[in-house]
Amino acid sequence: METRAVYPGSFDPVTNGHIDLIQRSAALFDQVIVAILRNTEKTPLFTVDERIEMLENVTRDMKNVSVTSFAGLLVDFVQELGASVIVRGIRAVSDYEYELQMALMNRRLSNKVETVFMLPAESYSFLSSKLVKEIAQLGGSVHAFVPEDVEKRLSGKFRTK
Ligand code: PNS
Repeated sequence: METRAVYPGSFDPVTNGHIDLIQRSAALFDQVIVAILRNTEKTPLFTVDERIEMLENVTRDMKNVSVTSFAGLLVDFVQELGASVIVRGIRAVSDYEYELQMALMNRRLSNKVETVFMLPAESYSFLSSKLVKEIAQLGGSVHAFVPEDVEKRLSGKFRTK
């Protein structure tokens, strides 16, 4: 039987750390669906459509990876897709508490969905979309942290003239 996994998140924007995790998941599961949360509470830098485009660009050659967005409860969405696994990345111990709480709550909401924690390469253990946005906004180089397309879009967002 095929194992379908969902990798949910904000991806505002996708970083090399996310890409590393997508590649690792794609090697482990038959199908990986990267799912962007359509969150009306947060004010993202990139629209959902922009984030989908950026993710589609970087996953184009990964044949078992697709990109979509979702609203509502993650466990409901996972089951609607016929998936049984939620993939989440843990970079450092500091991620663990929040991730554990979410995974246990999701298990409580549905015992048909399993959360799998994966570790990105150590070189990405300090990387986050939030820091990337801050660096780009303050004029620093994010070249080592995001794909070229994302780097260009970030400088487009923060260009002052
Ligand atoms: O990249 P993020 O912002 O850490 O991702 C958080 C995400 C999207 C995984 C989480 O907020 C989520 O699953 N939201 C959907 C609503 C939901 O199911 N809430 C209950 C979670 S226990």
